[in-house]
Amino acid sequence: MPTQDIAISLTDVDKRFGGLRAVKNVSMEVRAGERVSMIGTNGAGKSTLFNLIAGVFPVTAGSVSMFGSVVTKQNTAKRARNGLARTFQTSRLFEQLTAAENVFIALGGRGLGWKSIFPASRLAQKWTRVAQLLHTVGLSTEGDRRVADLSHGEQRQLELAMALAADPKILMLDEPAAGFSPAERQQLVAMLTALPADITLLLIEHDMDIALQVADRVIVMHDGSKILEGTPDEIRASQVVRDIYLGGGHA
Ligand SMILES: Nc1ncnc2c1ncn2[C@@H]1O[C@H](COP(=O)(O)OP(=O)(O)OP(=O)(O)O)[C@@H](O)[C@H]1O
Ligand SMILES: [Mg+2]
Repeated sequence: MPTQDIAISLTDVDKRFGGLRAVKNVSMEVRAGERVSMIGTNGAGKSTLFNLIAGVFPVTAGSVSMFGSVVTKQNTAKRARNGLARTFQTSRLFEQLTAAENVFIALGGRGLGWKSIFPASRLAQKWTRVAQLLHTVGLSTEGDRRVADLSHGEQRQLELAMALAADPKILMLDEPAAGFSPAERQQLVAMLTALPADITLLLIEHDMDIALQVADRVIVMHDGSKILEGTPDEIRASQVVRDIYLGGGHA
């Protein structure tokens, strides 16, 4: 398979924070369009691995590639321009603006093409895209509400719309269902399942139902190491996974 078909490739990646080795010699590949969930108990190194992929901080050792190009030394902005989008644990929303206005801002100047020389059609096109994105995340009727008045779940849905506004090739979500009600969880699964097939999805999720429903493949992290990967069925049947969660003090 040509390397451009590999959306993300990590080779022997290590991350130390002082004396703590948070990620230990992790190698993994995610194919373009693949849906991969990362699971593991608290402190396993999942978010750190995300940050290394996004370029939030440098690796201590090893290399990171996106679509066949080594990006190990690239900053987050460069990786974002090359098609990587992610949501953050802490909200980056403009609380006093409406949901639609937040998405409008996230769109920036992208995707306008030759029509950008005609300001009116350019604006209309952007608002159409805003409406599409709000619809995608299940917020089509909430566009005019201020972010401050949205529920926690709706705010997380809006963050997803904003990540999608960048038209990403790779979407990374760190615990998107945190704080969600059961109904919101099912909505999230439906939304992730309905994402365009060419988007590569990397998901960290403590809710095992969501992690296994959405994924083609699951990677299990434990104590900084990748200890297992397999299909959702293989993970469901795995004694190793059961042992980790029973013995690992999983929240
Ligand atoms: N910026 C940092 N500085 C120092 N130590 C850190 C930093 N980020 C993470 N760690 C440590 O690295 C280890 C792995 O943390 P990480 O956040 O990657 O785990 P996680 O698998 O995402 O856990 P959780 O499921 O609780 O979110 C932990 O021991 C954590 O305290
Ligand atoms: Mg984490």
